[in-house]
Amino acid sequence: MTKQLFEPLKLANGTVIKNRLYKGAMSEGMAKNHRPTDELIRVYQRWAHGGIGMSLTGNVMVDSRYLGEPGNVVIEDDRDMDALKRWAQAGTENGSHIWMQINHPGKQSPKSLTKEPVAPSAIPISGTAGSGFNPPRAMTRDEIKDTIKRFVTTAEIAKEAGFTGVQIHGAHGYLVSQFLSPHDNQRTDEYGGNLENRMRFLVEIYQGMRDALGEQFPISLKINSTDFKEDSFTEDESTAVIKKMAELGMDLIEISGGDYEKPKMMSDGEVYFLDYAKKISREVDIPIAVIGGFRKKESMTEAIETTDVAMIGVARPLVLRPDLPNRLQNGTYNDIELPRLKTGIKVLDDNIGGFAGLTYYEQQISRLGQDLPPKKHTNAWLPLFHLVRTHGPAAISPRRR
Ligand SMILES: Cc1cc2nc3c(=O)[nH]c(=O)nc-3n(C[C@H](O)[C@H](O)[C@H](O)COP(=O)(O)O)c2cc1C
Repeated sequence: MTKQLFEPLKLANGTVIKNRLYKGAMSEGMAKNHRPTDELIRVYQRWAHGGIGMSLTGNVMVDSRYLGEPGNVVIEDDRDMDALKRWAQAGTENGSHIWMQINHPGKQSPKSLTKEPVAPSAIPISGTAGSGFNPPRAMTRDEIKDTIKRFVTTAEIAKEAGFTGVQIHGAHGYLVSQFLSPHDNQRTDEYGGNLENRMRFLVEIYQGMRDALGEQFPISLKINSTDFKEDSFTEDESTAVIKKMAELGMDLIEISGGDYEKPKMMSDGEVYFLDYAKKISREVDIPIAVIGGFRKKESMTEAIETTDVAMIGVARPLVLRPDLPNRLQNGTYNDIELPRLKTGIKVLDDNIGGFAGLTYYEQQISRLGQDLPPKKHTNAWLPLFHLVRTHGPAAISPRRR
């Protein structure tokens, strides 16, 4: 357990990550025709040179019919291999890793992007967040099998392009997380019902990837500690899934929480999933990573030095300071405070404040890709205008990752 932030992590398969800091997945919204652009690639080069041990890409979609956000990268075949190779190359400079996060949004595909989303069961998103989404229809068994294959294909292409690992996005209320949840998954076939059945979709994706990628290739999972909803995915269930995935040979598990109805993953508090991550890392042998709220040097060092947690993830601060790891290492890091974005109109701030926040970070990621410094301001209108300019007015619909 005595370990330090800048000490390498060796995975069971022999893979070495040079330090304990990783960049959490952030959907960049920068793809053109589903393909990574030069600017997007440049951002990952900057993060690699900033000293990060590993970067997770923003979620890459497995099916162009079902996007999570405008500007997602989609990989269905190898047509964009050249750009993908350049992306992987940039992300592995300076001894860094780049792992591709792979996702299908299920019912969390906004109205502006999908007329009829698919989900384990035809249960719409409830609450205010629901207004931005069309009600889903239940997937057929053939669609489930096809989607599992798509996750595997995307992972194979990632490996071929030179990405050094992959991650299944099983958190935040997207399709894999919908299958796990007894609230969202009310199927009566072998993909629904008890936890073993609800886990089957994830297990089959993992096993398909393992068969295709081999024992040496890192495969990880981002999973919720809980969905924070009644009758939904609980900590006990999360623990059971993590133990099962560890037994099956998964290489690393990242802890987060929440979904569009309960967006806990975007809370502003400090290190909100750490207690659960600490507990689970004592119970399983595989490395546990945790993300959400790390801002202070002290909390980052403490989490690594005084607990069994193997890695800590940072997302928003790395947009404002891409060289955060180097600064931590050379002693020039000052604790960061994130801007609180406001439109100044209460009803808007209550309803789209968080959303404008996400768009603000997308806009700053795009500036990083153009070698421009981040713009620090709290005016929520600017990112909203940017979004409309880039993707049209339909892009304004509630969303969270
Ligand atoms: C702009 C933006 C995009 C995000 N996109 C994703 C995503 O694609 N996949 C994912 O698992 N999490 C996504 N997240 C959540 C982050 O990975 C992370 O869990 C969350 O921001 C909390 O970490 P932080 O407090 O260090 O920012 C996104 C967050 C932001 C701000």
